[in-house]
Amino acid sequence: MVTEELSARRPDVQSIEWPWRTERLELRPIVESDVEAMYALRSDPQVQWFCGGPAMSRGDAQRRVALNVSRMQPDSDEPGIALAVIDPSDGRMWGDALIGLKPSQAVGMHPTAEWEGVIGYTLQRAKWGAGWGTEVADALLRIAFERLGLRRVRADVFAGNVASERLLRRLGMRLEGRTVQAVLGEDGTWWDDLHLAMLREEWPTRTVDPQ
Ligand SMILES: CC(C)(COP(=O)(O)OP(=O)(O)OC[C@H]1O[C@@H](n2cnc3c(N)ncnc32)[C@H](O)[C@@H]1OP(=O)(O)O)[C@@H](O)C(=O)NCCC(=O)NCCS
Repeated sequence: MVTEELSARRPDVQSIEWPWRTERLELRPIVESDVEAMYALRSDPQVQWFCGGPAMSRGDAQRRVALNVSRMQPDSDEPGIALAVIDPSDGRMWGDALIGLKPSQAVGMHPTAEWEGVIGYTLQRAKWGAGWGTEVADALLRIAFERLGLRRVRADVFAGNVASERLLRRLGMRLEGRTVQAVLGEDGTWWDDLHLAMLREEWPTRTVDPQ
């Protein structure tokens, strides 16, 4: 639960101008009318495989969109920026992305005035392997550090999700830890969870692997 006092200091999500443009893509907040696109994206079991849940029904997609929309509200208990990934050439939503926000904690779990984020992104299979994931994650890090001034950004990736781990490392995120056998995967084996992160002071001097 985010207290009223901290709420006043929460990162100024509303001040960002949308769409956020990258070289090839646009990001804009998810809106109610994105339900069909969300369903098309997340009803694919292969897309959902490493996302921590089964293929979504239309009702699941509707609930996810509603939650995403509410996260942008200034009084949300689960603050964040939930974005649609748009290809400007056809205007279609080909993916979604998220920066979840929470206050950093002091010893004893007291909230501080600093905030941190956790990022996530998902693309339709038709768009995999063309650098879009890297472009989206790079945009999320830019928004997190340059616009919201977050102290730290984290990403959690299941160990078999090579594409996601690779793109995060390419963007300069460090492997901080690994939870061994964190969850029972869809294939019936226990999956490790990798924790990658970057601090605000690391962002300007990050090493981006060009390969
Ligand atoms: C993860 C995801 C966003 C990656 O998107 P993408 O556009 O394919 O990623 P990119 O093309 O930018 O980069 C992926 C990198 O991984 C590499 N890669 C992709 N699949 C791979 C595989 N099976 N084995 C090894 N490397 C792989 C690519 O070669 C590329 O690296 P390179 O640019 O150094 O060659 C996409 O696969 C996806 O939406 N997956 C489902 C949802 C998901 O897993 N989200 C992340 C949860 S943590």
